[in-house]
Amino acid sequence: ATIYIPGDSGALALGAEKVAKAIAKELAERGLDARIVRNGSRGAYFLEPMVEVETAGGRQAYGPVKAADVKGLFDAGLLTGGQHRLALGNPEEIPFFAKQTRLTFARCGITDPLSLEDYEKLGGLVGLRKAVAMTPADIVKQVTESGLRGRGGAGFPTGIKWKTVLDTTAERKYIVCNADEGDSATFADRMIMEGDPFVLIEGMAIAGIATGATKGFVYIRSEYPHAVAAMNRAVSIARKAGVLGATVLGSPNAFDMEIRVGAGAYVCGEETSLLNSLEGKRGVVRAKPPLPAIQGLFGKPTVINNVISLASVPVIMDKGAEHYKNFGMGRSRGTIPIQIAGNVKHGGLFEAAFGLSLGEIVDGIGGGTRSGRPVKAVQVGGPLGAYFPRELFDTPFDYEEFAKRDGLIGHAGITVFDDSADMLKMARFAMEFCAIESCGKCTPCRIGSTRGVETIDKISAGIEPEKNLELVADLCNTMKFGSLCALGGFTPYPVMSAIKHFGEDFKPAPARVAAE
Ligand code: NAI
Ligand code: SF4
Repeated sequence: ATIYIPGDSGALALGAEKVAKAIAKELAERGLDARIVRNGSRGAYFLEPMVEVETAGGRQAYGPVKAADVKGLFDAGLLTGGQHRLALGNPEEIPFFAKQTRLTFARCGITDPLSLEDYEKLGGLVGLRKAVAMTPADIVKQVTESGLRGRGGAGFPTGIKWKTVLDTTAERKYIVCNADEGDSATFADRMIMEGDPFVLIEGMAIAGIATGATKGFVYIRSEYPHAVAAMNRAVSIARKAGVLGATVLGSPNAFDMEIRVGAGAYVCGEETSLLNSLEGKRGVVRAKPPLPAIQGLFGKPTVINNVISLASVPVIMDKGAEHYKNFGMGRSRGTIPIQIAGNVKHGGLFEAAFGLSLGEIVDGIGGGTRSGRPVKAVQVGGPLGAYFPRELFDTPFDYEEFAKRDGLIGHAGITVFDDSADMLKMARFAMEFCAIESCGKCTPCRIGSTRGVETIDKISAGIEPEKNLELVADLCNTMKFGSLCALGGFTPYPVMSAIKHFGEDFKPAPARVAAE
């Protein structure tokens, strides 16, 4: 039998290592023979650690498993899929998974992350094989036609970005993968690097062949040691197998890659700051133009894409642009891994076609708050995203629809808050976060964020609240239009949405106390 125990850091944080040890011990004591595979997570963190067993009748899942449950599970016949109070049946039929459309995450949580053989058995490398037989222009055309847009948050069409790099002549070009996943509530990049690292490698190799770049770098945040380890091992396995190197899959194309680790600055997720950091310089933002696509890493044309954008390319090459494009709504094509976190009952990663409403995601899939209190607000798109009240829960998950309501879907992380959240504190936090993480290059962000904290504190203390609210709005306007990058430029979203939708929280403290 084969037993799957996630080695994913989310599952590890919930005790998967202790469970793995307990299972190994139980196997030894009972003299049973079974292979243990440390897979990634399928993404339902409310069921982690979720243990799966390969039985004659397919996979059977159990969860959430604690080390103390292991003996009982063996007594109940774990290896043959025996009944137990933690039995979840066929994992594919668990509603949280059955309702998803898994294109990018098709293998995540199922495959052995470091088995290239498993990867191929489950459909891997088909896209790259097709790509090596195509012209770069045709690959770029296919990615453009799929409608894929940058999943890091900005939603810029990936194919157009690649075309700029393809059309720029240079003796050397680079593919840089942004894995500095810094947004609150987001873990999609980490999950795929830990759970299916070869899909990112395959996506980067395709990007290289499509644009004429022969070298790739993955810039991973230092907070992700397990992802760094998985990627390093997967790269060396891919290199030995000829997937990377001087002759990619035996073709005349050369492509190789390296993993680099960041040092903990949020702003290094901004692409130009990331490039400076990769070059060994201080992580400050560069002015654009020139675009990285024309003058990027070491001044050379560079494709810089988020992990999910690159990891979505293999399935597009495999199944075709049309297939991918058929999912979604409006100009938001394909699927998006929605990450549901914060005060929520069913937290995890839910990959679906664009178009689900915020309410379906938070109440339906997420099951409302974990505290059982009413949902007050959800922040979509990380610390720079807007707070949405219940009245906007009919907003469909789509780049343009969110923009229409002064919000953004960003990297698709959703943080849920119950009615105990104080939105003035959340607005203050946004300004404070910006002040701490600012790279300091431009004044609206460097100085504005600190003045923002002070002004919100005055409102909180009841000092000329109306005048100070106007001042905050004015300051936000300056930051939004005067900042060099999204850190200063987007901080106004959480601040202004909190003021607009939760005005009662901005009444001076004595009045708030009186009202209560
Ligand atoms: P942007 O709109 O300036 O650029 C988007 C991308 O398109 C960039 O890579 C840019 O170089 C490229 N581009 C633009 N015109 C091009 C052209 N003609 N040819 C080729 N490439 C072109 O947005 P930016 O500042 O890169 O990203 C902002 C977004 O980042 C926000 O929407 C926010 O949601 C997101 N974000 C994501 C975080 C995360 O952890 N994933 C954290 C913070 C923000
Ligand atoms: Fe740096 Fe902030 Fe200006 Fe961005 S907005 S360049 S983080 S100072």
